[in-house]
Amino acid sequence: MDFINCYEDVSRADAYATLEFANTYYLAYRDLPAIMSEHVAGTRALDFGCGTGRSTRFLRKLGFNVAGVDIAEDMLRVAHALDPAGDYRIVPRDDLSEFAPGTFDLIVSLFTFDNIPSAAKVRIFSDLRNLLRPAGTIVSVVSSPEIYTHEWASFSTKDFPENAAARSGDMVRIIVTDHQDRRPVEDILWTDESYRAVYSEASLEAIQVFKPLAKGDEPYSWVNETKIPPWVIYVLRRAT
Ligand SMILES: C[S@@+](CC[C@H](N)C(=O)[O-])C[C@H]1O[C@@H](n2cnc3c(N)ncnc32)[C@H](O)[C@@H]1O
Repeated sequence: MDFINCYEDVSRADAYATLEFANTYYLAYRDLPAIMSEHVAGTRALDFGCGTGRSTRFLRKLGFNVAGVDIAEDMLRVAHALDPAGDYRIVPRDDLSEFAPGTFDLIVSLFTFDNIPSAAKVRIFSDLRNLLRPAGTIVSVVSSPEIYTHEWASFSTKDFPENAAARSGDMVRIIVTDHQDRRPVEDILWTDESYRAVYSEASLEAIQVFKPLAKGDEPYSWVNETKIPPWVIYVLRRAT
């Protein structure tokens, strides 16, 4: 399948930069500080797929010394503009060789693997694994398969009934309703079973998996978020 990273786009980057931590996105980020304080020792971090820098700035506020990397120049241009002191780098063709093996205490990827073609997933997770310090941790936040078949505070999928028939590895569409760019985002559906197979091939082990739900008392107009988890958070370590 030919897959184009839809984030290599000036208008999408400008729209994406307006997103913060509200609505459905709140649930992707809510539990990360507690997860990191439980599982991460040390402060050197890599934000893989940093986009316009939301996740990188989030990590810096938690006290991490973070490098943000992405393949989309348009996203990085905005990240630099919003945060001139930040460390943002382009990684053409996912070449992470500028970082020495064993460098990072923490590697995060927020939503990045939603956009990575199936055939590249094992290679990239293996590369990320090699960049971890021996006791380092990867925290990968991805879309749950259910996100593509329901309505949400931040997303709509009702125009794409074909998503319901998608299998792991198929392209699915979703519209972000929290920003002005209403063109569908094209993601790649990837099930829990498929992620676990990738982790195994990349010599990684999922030590915890979270599926955050809203409690109902948050200041957002939830649609399905109190009943169906929109995100899956994988906490990964080197397999022993
Ligand atoms: C949905 S955005 C998320 C940005 C950021 N993590 C956040 O939470 O706001 C996903 C980002 O992953 C990037 N991406 C996709 N494939 C990538 C790859 N192979 N290597 C690095 N970044 C990639 C895209 O360019 C995009 O900027």
